[in-house]
Amino acid sequence: MNSYIKDISYYVPEKIITNNDLEKLMDTSDEWITSRTGIKQRHSVGDNPLGPSDLAVESTKKLFDKIDVKLEDIDFVIFATSSPDTYVPGSGSIFQHKMGLNNIGVLDIRQGCCGFVYAISVADQFIKAGTYKNILVVGSEVQTTQLDYDTKGRGTAIIFGDGATSALVRPTKSKGKGILSSHLHSDGKYISELGTMVPSPVVKGLINKKNIDNREHHIFMNGREVFRHAVKRFPDVIREGLSYNNLNIEDVGLVIPHQANYRITQAVQRSLKVEENKVFSNIHKYGNTTAASVGIALSEAIEQNRIKDNDIIVLVAFGAGFYWASSILKWHNE
Ligand code: COA
Repeated sequence: MNSYIKDISYYVPEKIITNNDLEKLMDTSDEWITSRTGIKQRHSVGDNPLGPSDLAVESTKKLFDKIDVKLEDIDFVIFATSSPDTYVPGSGSIFQHKMGLNNIGVLDIRQGCCGFVYAISVADQFIKAGTYKNILVVGSEVQTTQLDYDTKGRGTAIIFGDGATSALVRPTKSKGKGILSSHLHSDGKYISELGTMVPSPVVKGLINKKNIDNREHHIFMNGREVFRHAVKRFPDVIREGLSYNNLNIEDVGLVIPHQANYRITQAVQRSLKVEENKVFSNIHKYGNTTAASVGIALSEAIEQNRIKDNDIIVLVAFGAGFYWASSILKWHNE
């Protein structure tokens, strides 16, 4: 039995940080950021003490406002974030408590920008195995509170934004529709190219003032190295998924890539030799929302009527780890 995405929603906090706002904090310009990344603005929780569990509550409420499934029918939660509310426990259980989804199983996923695609893949396996029937998949991030909004951090801070997405994954009896396959990869050789370098509390004696003085508590990115790998891994893992399903790029209705950087999206489009309108982009509005980005993009693509029943949809991501992953879907409107 296949699984499918019954519906999906998203939420972004109201406050917007524009490129012009960043010009006041660091030596940068709207022109530099737009031409290098395609980003014009990103949303932020600002001074509100909110974590990814709070944004996820909002996106989940929006999801249940539009579907005929009851919250009590949810039998499992998968929560993807790289900016957890606390070190322990994971944001999944914090979110579960806030939603009143008590006693069901919850799984946290920490695969950065690939978090949503990894989470969809895990949900698909649980449904195929017959273990669960209504899995809530969440991707949520609060990044803007941990960025280095200073000229020293400008190469990284301009990229990221806050947001959340919630999807319901459930079984379908329609043969050959829904989530066809997922393809997951990782190469831990590149951990130091993208991530927060401050050690975790389990590494005895290593968290100290020096870490803070060295700005290691801010997320760090070696932009050039990330770019170089991303433009190869995105097309590779798309081709892997299509080939596994005996599909060609011409069969694809829409590619929904993780919104890393508009130049990466353009490079993927050129590498696949597809028209621009076959690769979805909304990075100009949200920046890179890490584990939420693929879900927010999929929600907006549906809102814009860019996805029809039976369309082949590719979800694809690359990010910290490095992780890279794709899911091939045959869209199922039910
Ligand atoms: N504003 C103005 N100048 C900036 C800047 C900013 N926000 N950030 C960096 N610069 C400067 C650098 O200091 C450097 O100046 P120098 O030549 O005087 O030393 C110059 O611009 C080039 O820096 P570099 O880091 O080499 O720029 P780049 O062309 O590689 O662009 C990124 C930087 C981050 C935009 C680019 O590497 C990128 O998009 N990488 C992919 C990152 C990504 O998508 N990550 C998502 C995670 S999946």
